[in-house]
Amino acid sequence: MTEPKPSERVCILGAGSAMAEHTARLLAARGARLALVARNSTRLRSIAADLSARGAGAVVERCVDFADLNDPDALLDSVSLALGGLDAVLIFYGDLGDQTVAESDTAEAARLLNVNFLSAATLSLAAAARLEASDFPRPVLLCIGSVAGDRGRASNFIYGAAKGGLAVLYQGLQHRFALKRLAVRAVVIKAGFVDTPMTAAFAKGGPLWARPEAVARTIVAAMEKGGPVIYAPWFWRWIMLIIRLLPQSLMNRLNL
Ligand SMILES: NC(=O)c1ccc[n+]([C@@H]2O[C@H](COP(=O)([O-])OP(=O)(O)OC[C@H]3O[C@@H](n4cnc5c(N)ncnc54)[C@H](OP(=O)(O)O)[C@@H]3O)[C@@H](O)[C@H]2O)c1
Repeated sequence: MTEPKPSERVCILGAGSAMAEHTARLLAARGARLALVARNSTRLRSIAADLSARGAGAVVERCVDFADLNDPDALLDSVSLALGGLDAVLIFYGDLGDQTVAESDTAEAARLLNVNFLSAATLSLAAAARLEASDFPRPVLLCIGSVAGDRGRASNFIYGAAKGGLAVLYQGLQHRFALKRLAVRAVVIKAGFVDTPMTAAFAKGGPLWARPEAVARTIVAAMEKGGPVIYAPWFWRWIMLIIRLLPQSLMNRLNL
């Protein structure tokens, strides 16, 4: 008799995000063992119950505010112990903030840079070390970046700088994994406009807006193959190529 295939063990950081919730549903349906980490304990409990009902092999909860995360190693060790190892670490949390406030308030700017870059970067480094040791066929470290990280624009360059910095970190990690000939992959999903609570105040509609369910399908596919940079939806690759190539003299006349 053949041994049953072990299910993948996935840590979801920022499990309360709309994109994370839809991704977790797809993973639960295939029996994944999930560690959910988020700051809102009520929401965490209700998502955990839903994922168990949808077929997750196990659901572990940890309540964490990533703005106050002092010991990323301890967090990952705790969820790894609870799941019996780690095969994938997915970083969803993020804070768009208010650029106009952050420009005149350095404490707010530091808060945004800390949540969107520093905490995510240190967690990614801690996760990379653990995933390198995984015996899963395709371990993956994945974060949600943003097209805002591709070029600094007056409307959101503080958030954009954090997401851009994270993308460079993942580029370097992916290079390290490749040089060491490891199976583990580092993947950045560069999302465009997605209809989630983060964009609740934005006017919506039109072909550039995506649903979180659709982005979740792209994320789950990216856990298997592709990358290291995946635009979601795909057409943002070409939009951002054009925006990156625009001469600064032309950018200076556009209010993007
Ligand atoms: N929506 C878009 O158009 C878009 C575009 C590009 C990239 N992104 C990125 O996509 C990712 C997912 O966002 P989303 O669109 O799914 O929005 P969302 O549903 O608003 O999710 C953002 C999540 O981040 C969590 N979070 C923020 N600061 C946190 C902190 N200090 N500690 C713990 N959790 C924290 C929020 O927790 P609470 O629920 O407790 O507030 C929320 O669950 C984010 O990284 C975002 O930057 C979004």
